[in-house]
Amino acid sequence: MKRLATQAAERVKRAGHVDVFSHIDPDGITSGTIASQALERLGIDHEMHFLKKLDSRAVEEIKDRNPEAVWFTDLGSGLFHRLADLSGVITDHHLPSEVVVPGGDRDDLRDYMTPDMVHVNPHLVGIDGTSELSSSGTAYLVARALSRENQDLAALGAVGAVGDLQDRAQGRLVGANREVVGDGERSGVLQVIRDLRLFGRETRPVFRLLQYAHDPPLPHLTEDAEACIVFFLELGIDLKGEGGWRRWIDLEAEEKRTVVSELVMSLLQKGYGHAQARRLTGEVYLLPREEEGTPLHDAKEFATLLNACGRYEAGEVGYLVCRGDRGEAYKQALGLLKGHRRHIVTSLDVVDDVGVESLDHIQWFHGGDRIKDTVVGIAAGMVLGSGSVKQDMPLFAFAQAEDGVKVSARASQRLLQRGLNLAVVVREAAAKVGGEGGGHAVAAGATIPPGTEDEFLRIADGMVGVQLQA
Ligand code: C5P
Repeated sequence: MKRLATQAAERVKRAGHVDVFSHIDPDGITSGTIASQALERLGIDHEMHFLKKLDSRAVEEIKDRNPEAVWFTDLGSGLFHRLADLSGVITDHHLPSEVVVPGGDRDDLRDYMTPDMVHVNPHLVGIDGTSELSSSGTAYLVARALSRENQDLAALGAVGAVGDLQDRAQGRLVGANREVVGDGERSGVLQVIRDLRLFGRETRPVFRLLQYAHDPPLPHLTEDAEACIVFFLELGIDLKGEGGWRRWIDLEAEEKRTVVSELVMSLLQKGYGHAQARRLTGEVYLLPREEEGTPLHDAKEFATLLNACGRYEAGEVGYLVCRGDRGEAYKQALGLLKGHRRHIVTSLDVVDDVGVESLDHIQWFHGGDRIKDTVVGIAAGMVLGSGSVKQDMPLFAFAQAEDGVKVSARASQRLLQRGLNLAVVVREAAAKVGGEGGGHAVAAGATIPPGTEDEFLRIADGMVGVQLQA
């Protein structure tokens, strides 16, 4: 990775003007910001563009601009064969396309890049881009190769990785991400603590933390506000303090220990294994230069704030917040966060309403026009994480989009170990019905023509069956 990052840095330094294209999710917004900051510090003129997805149409539009140099972040690898005639760099962690540079033989790294288009992707060097390095980490390695001064961007590197749930399986960031975390700590922009890993430690009243816990769901507490309040009262823990509702960060160390041991015990009693129960606590990544008690101080909350921007056509707002705007853009982001929370709640109600159906090897729901295409993947992940649907089948979700039907597919880590690769399933099933897609082994997406959902599901069902049997 370091050699590729250095090569990419050399390419970037030769550019006069760079068009940066990035994805709209937290990993995309942080990667784009890292690229943009690194370019700015070098004095290289650049323009930032956020894309919902990179498909053939977007590629044509980009080529029509005739850019002098490009830097793709968090997208590009899946369509590398279509981008190979451009000039610049790609820092991505999605599964690279199997169609290589014309004439190449796939086992050679040179088949995934050209002398003028440097492709930096952990998958190309045997690092798992789903769990060991995000796009923000990949972009960070290039930024660091450009200048040691960019080490402060490691904090955004960690926010992107957490946004892509790369800390989820083991309760901590692993693999090449450790290098990013280490740099962040050394440069004073990141602090790693061991704590409860639930969302909202810094901003939510503490009982809400339990009420909204979904990964894993807490027996008798998740989704039941009253039970959560009683839980704290029974433990003798005050819910209100001088400043109003107490948040997790307001609790005394002893109170926190009591809560965690109660929660672990109830999970064990419910039949969860020790490994699952242990996942409640783990590493939490803090940004010490941000104000405590705001959604910017905890990487997980920061990533959600960015989700609230990118998924509602406001990637630019998230980008400005990442660049340090604490005025107008930050205010706007907080407003978007409120709306995002509301839409998530509504989306989960819609799933309840339409119901989840099963085929032989997969399950699915269709949100129609009631779930936003950019949020249907988040909803699918939450429904799967809540344990209310089958855990031994991937979940496919549909929602109406402007240019077709959006598909999002999510699966548990367990299925990954059994050989499932949703990136391949979604890419190939989408192509067969006239759509386009790709992504990761446990989270993939596509857009397909309206009316082809049944055919898509039939093909995906067959492919998943074959993958899980193999
Ligand atoms: O959109 P969603 O959250 O479901 O995307 C899951 C993954 O699939 C993302 O990493 C995204 O980049 C990828 N994807 C893709 N092509 C699409 C849609 C999503 O490669 N058309």
